[in-house]
Amino acid sequence: MKTASLIKLITANVKIAHISDLHFSGKKDRRQIADFDRLLDHFNADGVHHLVISGDLSNSAERADWHLVREKLESHGLYKWEKCTVLAGNHDLINLEEEMRFYNALNPLPLLRMRGFERKLSEFTLFFQELISGDEKGKKTFPFVKIINFSSSKIALTALNSVYPWYPADNPLGSRGLITSGQLRALSSQHVLTSLKGCFVLGLCHHAYRVYGTDSLIDQAFDWTMELKDREEFLAVMKHIQARLVLHGHFHRFQNYTVDGISFINGGSFRYAPQRYSELIIDETGGFQQKFIILS
Ligand SMILES: [Fe+2]
Ligand SMILES: [Fe+2]
Repeated sequence: MKTASLIKLITANVKIAHISDLHFSGKKDRRQIADFDRLLDHFNADGVHHLVISGDLSNSAERADWHLVREKLESHGLYKWEKCTVLAGNHDLINLEEEMRFYNALNPLPLLRMRGFERKLSEFTLFFQELISGDEKGKKTFPFVKIINFSSSKIALTALNSVYPWYPADNPLGSRGLITSGQLRALSSQHVLTSLKGCFVLGLCHHAYRVYGTDSLIDQAFDWTMELKDREEFLAVMKHIQARLVLHGHFHRFQNYTVDGISFINGGSFRYAPQRYSELIIDETGGFQQKFIILS
């Protein structure tokens, strides 16, 4: 009887693992691939219910790297709508060298470059469609909402694309972020609010709400190249939908911080710390605990 109640207690919690910024660079880095296998094995052995990967799967916007991630998720039984959510990062959508070469050679109109960016974003969402809509042939894109019914609670994952196209003056490194007003409006709609009722709501995007934020001029220059331009509008929407946490990556640091009552978790970088990840446990009363785990 004691064993039965202990099992009930354990299964009543939802366990979410969060990693970010994998920056895969082809199959030659066997060490990193082995580390990824090890981490995914651990998630399965540890009873993780859902895995969030918050962008920068590839280092140079290569489809082959997305393939590598998908293959590994598939071979570990994690490539399923209810098991995993994947976001695009700037390194998935922007190849800086190519952008600059193209720009210097042809000086294409911003509209043309914007179309190229949208094509790449659409390529990403179609590639990972099964994780977005649950249907390999679906056509859903950002923002998307996944509501997963666990035995103890309903978890809503609300995902936004924060990658903003490369522009020579405004986004010279391709690493500034922007969430389009269309996405923010769509997520704030009454229809979405109704569907989120009774859910534990998580916000997901690639860019950080907070980067350094110090008074040092060097830090401020760095902040500018990395920042989420419309972070206050994003925060307002997260409050509006009553998100409890926001999971992000981009700024390669494992961090947690609170803004206006919302917990922000930076999943750091698997590339630079492959033994570390963020674990989030949500209990049936709506309480949660987050910590960074280091595999021994
Ligand atoms: Fe990154
Ligand atoms: Fe990034």
